[in-house]
Amino acid sequence: MKIKILKNGPYIVTGGVPLYEKIIVPVGDHYVLQDGRALPQKEKYILCRCGETSIPPFCDGIHLKNGFDGSETASRKTYDERAEILKGPDLDLMDDGRCAMARFCHRDRGDAWELTERSYNPLNKSEAIIGAIECPAGRLIAIEKNGYRHEIKNKPCIEIVQDPEKGVSAAIFVRGGIPIESEDGQIYETRDSVALCRCGKSRNIPFCDASHLISMFDDGNVPKN
Ligand code: SF4
Ligand code: FES
Repeated sequence: MKIKILKNGPYIVTGGVPLYEKIIVPVGDHYVLQDGRALPQKEKYILCRCGETSIPPFCDGIHLKNGFDGSETASRKTYDERAEILKGPDLDLMDDGRCAMARFCHRDRGDAWELTERSYNPLNKSEAIIGAIECPAGRLIAIEKNGYRHEIKNKPCIEIVQDPEKGVSAAIFVRGGIPIESEDGQIYETRDSVALCRCGKSRNIPFCDASHLISMFDDGNVPKN
């Protein structure tokens, strides 16, 4: 399985990666992903990266006419090189700042940072760990004081995300450590979960930086509340 980024063009996905649409849904003060529309399953498919396709989430070639600049601006440093560490009383939290504003770090008892700072309480600590594990952008890793990292291995898949609470279409969640190859042939550090931009407006291309919320990106399939 692989995702290949084309210069100023789409994502070429090969290897039969399962493709789903997912909806961000609030439940109390936290969020879950619900199934959206069924999408076709193919060995190879091409996903829009510029945000202007007429057949989302797939590419229709519009990037060739709209002057899309898909230059990759994201750092090639590893997660450990980029991340900062917040030290709590019984848990630490690594944070590389790559946020897709999907809000899974928000738990009923607070967000992952607040909960880490209050990790002397076991309930806060376990909620902080869940908030970090559930971050679909791979921004957060909760670490025990003995160095153990709370990380999970998802099944490989690609999720096309809608965020009706915010009235926008959101990122592409890439799960399960699928390699992502830059236009120049270099493979980004492979991580279990990352969020790729599909609105074309990120300032950290190819990764989502939540710019879809500023531009109110709508691919035409945002469920109406
Ligand atoms: S991308 Fe991660 S850090 Fe950003 S809001 Fe979502 S869960 Fe929180
Ligand atoms: S989809 Fe989030 S910045 Fe483009």
